[in-house]
Amino acid sequence: MTAGLYRGRRLRRTPALRAIARETRLSLDQIVAPLFVCPGTQVRDAIASMPGHARLSPDLAAQEAAELADLGVRSVLLFGIPATKDARGSGAWDPEGPVPDAIRRVKHDTPELTVWADVCLCEYTDHGHCGLLDTSGVDNDATLPLLANAALIYAQAGADVVAPSDMMDGRVAAIRAALDGAGFTQTVIVSYAVKYASAFYGPFRDAAGSTPRTGDRRAYQMDPPNVREAVREALADVREGADMVMVKPGLPYLDVIRAVRERVDVPVAAYQVSGEFAMLHAAADRGWIDLPRAMAEATIALRRAGADLVITYFARELAAALGQPARLAAAVETLR
Ligand code: PBG
Repeated sequence: MTAGLYRGRRLRRTPALRAIARETRLSLDQIVAPLFVCPGTQVRDAIASMPGHARLSPDLAAQEAAELADLGVRSVLLFGIPATKDARGSGAWDPEGPVPDAIRRVKHDTPELTVWADVCLCEYTDHGHCGLLDTSGVDNDATLPLLANAALIYAQAGADVVAPSDMMDGRVAAIRAALDGAGFTQTVIVSYAVKYASAFYGPFRDAAGSTPRTGDRRAYQMDPPNVREAVREALADVREGADMVMVKPGLPYLDVIRAVRERVDVPVAAYQVSGEFAMLHAAADRGWIDLPRAMAEATIALRRAGADLVITYFARELAAALGQPARLAAAVETLR
């Protein structure tokens, strides 16, 4: 009577059958771990809204990076919190600042790790905007040489990858020219090409003290309802010389990841941002969701949408889960 009935359950019956039928996987090679670096030594200043994360002085950031590498993580992304902020964000290109210091230490202690440096002024400006302010807002073209200079300082410190997150027009070309002009032709540029003006950056801004003092970032970050514009941004950055492009945030923008993936031929990264991370923790703390499983599901969704790699504050937990035999970890089955 049921002959010919489609029995989708057949391939879901056991873990081994599900593994055969699985269409998407997450590998340790595709995970990037963000770290926050602050001045000092032996500083570990916990970030309340990002459980398990702290502002780390360069020595401890290097130690954390080495531990991540031991777990199999292959890339770290460094954000800086300077000792002092000013109107121009001059801490961003201080060769003795926490980020260049941490880059040198990580490359010395764990040379096999790929070191990414975020390039932006907002952590370094006293007004919290991502560029120089003029009477009408953020001055795009006056900001470009400052970003290029910061990128060059990180490359000189040994960064393998620079990742501009400021959303100024033309910054990829400006950074490429500055790097090439100084002989850093091999430094990779990952552009935050598609970065939305999002409410999901809240915990990051707590961590970095980078909430704009006045106004918001909507005049330079993207408008959430737009997806065709995302493709335009990504194509423009590839034309300017971006080696990879990023979509950010991740989970609320899965359609955008897919659209970008289909239109560019460079690797696409998705950034699972601080708010996505904090939300899962907050719900798990209330006992409303199972954290390891929710982490795995939210992360594999980014891969399924088309991301080639994922920047995630769950890097340590994901690496730990992926390093275990499937029968031991709840999250693992979903990931590999
Ligand atoms: C800096 C920057 C931000 C993030 C990455 N780079 C914050 C912002 O634009 O406000 C957000 C990362 C996160 O929320 O995890 N421009």
